[in-house]
Amino acid sequence: MLLLSVRKTTGLAARLLLRPAVIHRTAALSTSCIRHKDSGKIEVLGSTYTTDKWTNATSAILSKTGRDLLHQPSHPLAILKEMIFAEFPTFVHYDSLSPVVNTYQNFDSLGFAKDHPGRAASDTYYINADTLLRTHTSAHQLELLAAGKQSNKGILAQARNAQAAPANERFLVAADVYRRDEIDASHYPVFHQMEGVCTFSRAEVREHLCREAAASATAATTDALNLDMSAAQLLDTTQIGDTNPVQPEHTAGEVEFVAAHMKRTMNSMVVHILTKASAAAAAATDSTQVSSGAATQFPVRWIDAFFPFTSPSWEMEVLFRGDWLEICGCGVMKQAILDDAGMPDRIGWAFGFGLERLAMLLFGVPDIRLFWSTDPRFVGQFSPGQINTFRPFSRHPPCPKDVSFWLPADTEFHENDLMDLVRETAGDLVEGVKLIDLFTHPKTSKTSRCYRINYCSMDRNVKHEEINAIQDKVRDRIVSQLGVTLR
Ligand code: DAH
Repeated sequence: MLLLSVRKTTGLAARLLLRPAVIHRTAALSTSCIRHKDSGKIEVLGSTYTTDKWTNATSAILSKTGRDLLHQPSHPLAILKEMIFAEFPTFVHYDSLSPVVNTYQNFDSLGFAKDHPGRAASDTYYINADTLLRTHTSAHQLELLAAGKQSNKGILAQARNAQAAPANERFLVAADVYRRDEIDASHYPVFHQMEGVCTFSRAEVREHLCREAAASATAATTDALNLDMSAAQLLDTTQIGDTNPVQPEHTAGEVEFVAAHMKRTMNSMVVHILTKASAAAAAATDSTQVSSGAATQFPVRWIDAFFPFTSPSWEMEVLFRGDWLEICGCGVMKQAILDDAGMPDRIGWAFGFGLERLAMLLFGVPDIRLFWSTDPRFVGQFSPGQINTFRPFSRHPPCPKDVSFWLPADTEFHENDLMDLVRETAGDLVEGVKLIDLFTHPKTSKTSRCYRINYCSMDRNVKHEEINAIQDKVRDRIVSQLGVTLR
């Protein structure tokens, strides 16, 4: 799940499932910047935190906090980040804010209800009850706006180009974000987002509306932008209304202006980037086959959405291998955030882009794990400022292994505990984990589940004995840590 709009679990049920036992067991994947100590302390990026019953950040996850993919100039995610930054020269750019935030930043400051499922320990990596690995870049919205208002030099100094908007009234944040999730080719528990925030003086908006009337703002179609639309096909039938409402603090005219500005800005960014990708795809086709010259067209659509911190809200999706994938959530910022930042006289829009999915599409990367590969055959394929199509360097056969077990009678089972346990044990050798059978015994009412764990290396030959040993460890651990009974 990429966005925080809809979650599958309920917070309360999931919270009861918190299993500290899953952590502190595997040291193999730790890096030098992290030490799990028996004394109930965790070290993350040089700071020490006290653990408690909320702690569920595994050492496999913590080891990712120091990888810093966004600062490796030839990495596809860093290339995409720079391309987006370049599209927004008048925004302040941040790309080194720490992933360790508190629950206020990640949830309360954005108006998340106390029982919002996104807060559940089954979905979020907690360092302790108050501290977590940010689940989205929106965690920085309020603090960056307030820092601009109060001229907080400490935070403003972390900007790459503070002068672009000296009061931080427009900014972008690129960063790693962390979520407990399923395992497959497009989900990884760490991924990257780009947050965009753009605010306007309400007096200016009103003046503009008087001068030009609301219609002129909404009439700013893609044609008016002079965009070359050959690379993207934009579909938008959404409407502001009862189901996607204007906030009581705003007038319909203000919101039409802000929403039109936001959609125009985002359409333009996405079209520019897809145009580069389309040219790269055409070049790759030309060099490998008889020249066709045909560029790729990417369908992009807008749909209505819901987020606690915007109204009205939308999602942008792209068509990727036959599926519509969410790449972005956005909307008109809840006025309470701007009020809390000390700027009730402003109105704004915000977006959160998922970088991996867009990068998979742009660079033709088939598996999200590849972004974490240190194999020179992956990292050596890319250059700063360029989109080129990834050439697969190896395809090792997948090795599926099934495990079936009876669920415990007295405790609830949560699938994300299994996902983390498999990742802790198998690292990036695991390509996917899928529920393939669910059975309830008619007499005993006991339930069993069968999961297929697909092992497949991205970059090396793996012997059967190695996979078997990992699978044995997985089996042992699900019994000792999740309390299930193997079938
Ligand atoms: N933070 C949201 C997520 O990760 C995405 C998002 C939605 C960001 C709407 C925004 C926004 O800034 O306005 O699911």
